[in-house]
Amino acid sequence: MTGWVTRHWRALLLWTLGLFAGLTLLALMIAYSGIYNIAASAGHPAWMEWVLQLGKERSVKFNSRSVKPPKQDSADLVPLGAAHFQSTCATCHGAPGQPLNPVFGHMLPSPPDLQKHAHHWTREQLFWIARHGIQFTGMPAWSGAGRDDEVWAVVAFLEALPSMSETDYRRYAGGHSETQGYSAGAFVSQGRPRLDLTACSRCHDTAGAAPPSPYVPHIGGQNEAYLRRALHEYRDDSRQSGFMEPVADDLDDEQIDRLAAYYASLPPSPRQRPRPSSPQLREQGRQLAEQGDRARKVPACLSCHGANGRSDYPRLAGQSEQYIRRQLQVWRRGGRHKTPHGAMMSVVAKRLTDQQVEAAASFFAGRPPQADRVQEEASAP
Ligand code: HEC
Ligand code: HEC
Ligand code: HEC
Repeated sequence: MTGWVTRHWRALLLWTLGLFAGLTLLALMIAYSGIYNIAASAGHPAWMEWVLQLGKERSVKFNSRSVKPPKQDSADLVPLGAAHFQSTCATCHGAPGQPLNPVFGHMLPSPPDLQKHAHHWTREQLFWIARHGIQFTGMPAWSGAGRDDEVWAVVAFLEALPSMSETDYRRYAGGHSETQGYSAGAFVSQGRPRLDLTACSRCHDTAGAAPPSPYVPHIGGQNEAYLRRALHEYRDDSRQSGFMEPVADDLDDEQIDRLAAYYASLPPSPRQRPRPSSPQLREQGRQLAEQGDRARKVPACLSCHGANGRSDYPRLAGQSEQYIRRQLQVWRRGGRHKTPHGAMMSVVAKRLTDQQVEAAASFFAGRPPQADRVQEEASAP
């Protein structure tokens, strides 16, 4: 056999090339002739449906092999995942109490009802689908570049979805806003919720309540110039977040000004109860905040984040541990550095040890928000 192949390899090669060229030509001719009906309304022939489903299953399984789920507190992430799902995914997929939108139901393939379908996939596979999307189906990839950490909130939500009641869904997805405003009808006609404060309070704090998830920052009582800058940075894609970029994209300059002024004028919102942490850790955090760490060339955090910090620097006191830790990790992984302010903080974050990150998160989460507002409070009548 091998002898035969060695003798006839030229002929074999020519035949293979010829066959390949013939098939390519045939495919081109079919494409050019227009006889294949690409109408979504025509549906796929059964054999093609079978091949496509097989291809999708195998590809998701194969490509998600290297995904490593982090250790995480799913309960804290579900409200954030649900709120994002409501504004970004429910348009296509429907949600508990919101039947599949008839327009998107006529896509080919049509987006499945995830309350029934999500348990078909493992945690790793759900992450991979939500992170990368699916070619040729309309299923989009995650929009915040380099923010894989955010996708896990959506995964936590998708895992909880199959057993979630309509009431629970509304509570999670609505956060502190009036969920009644978001009917399936409003989604069909507008695609996204109308922009008003409910568009923010679904995830963020209000004057009377902390954000529903500790992974969402408190913005009530934050410096106005900082809030304005952050919204501009999400909108022009210089600060990445798959949660905030789609929201900020809908805002014009005037709305940004008004939102920044409104949130800055709120009293600092009530805090999440800080998790119990050791007094030694908090003490280490206090030293870092007040004195820095000379050996590692880390300046005192409070020199920039305290009462005398610049007005376009953020206040940290009372932000949750989870939020502070996560932002520091984003810098350490090389994100949030495209702006001059982000680049400055990036240098500081990269010099910290893991232990110092924990210490700083624990200290600032337990620090009363008023602590760094002395000037205004003292001068108030
Ligand atoms: C523009 C419409 C659209 C949007 C928006 C959308 N999807 Fe999809 N999604 C689809 C389509 C279409 C499929 C593919 C169905 C198929 O291949 O059979 C899909 C598939 C999926 C699947 C795999 C389901 C399965 O069993 O095949 C998951 C999980 C999923 N989407 C989650 C999400 C999440 C989470 C979001 C929001 C971040 C989202 N989708 C936003 C259209 C959409
Ligand atoms: C789906 C949930 C969600 C919605 C809706 C939402 N946010 Fe956010 N917001 C977040 C998350 C999560 C972050 C942290 C993102 C990051 O890691 O950069 C954030 C960050 C911010 C920041 C930066 C805060 C800081 O300390 O750096 C501002 C300002 C902000 N949001 C304002 C708004 C405003 C104003 C609206 C309404 C127009 C809004 N957000 C709607 C989830 C949301
Ligand atoms: C030289 C000034 C400076 C020092 C010192 C500094 N920071 Fe920052 N920090 C900033 C600036 C500026 C920002 C805003 C970055 C941006 O806009 O992207 C920031 C942002 C942050 C944020 C994100 C806040 C938010 O709402 O998103 C955290 C968390 C943070 N710093 C922690 C620390 C810790 C912990 C220390 C001490 C170890 C520290 N910083 C020291 C300047 C500083």
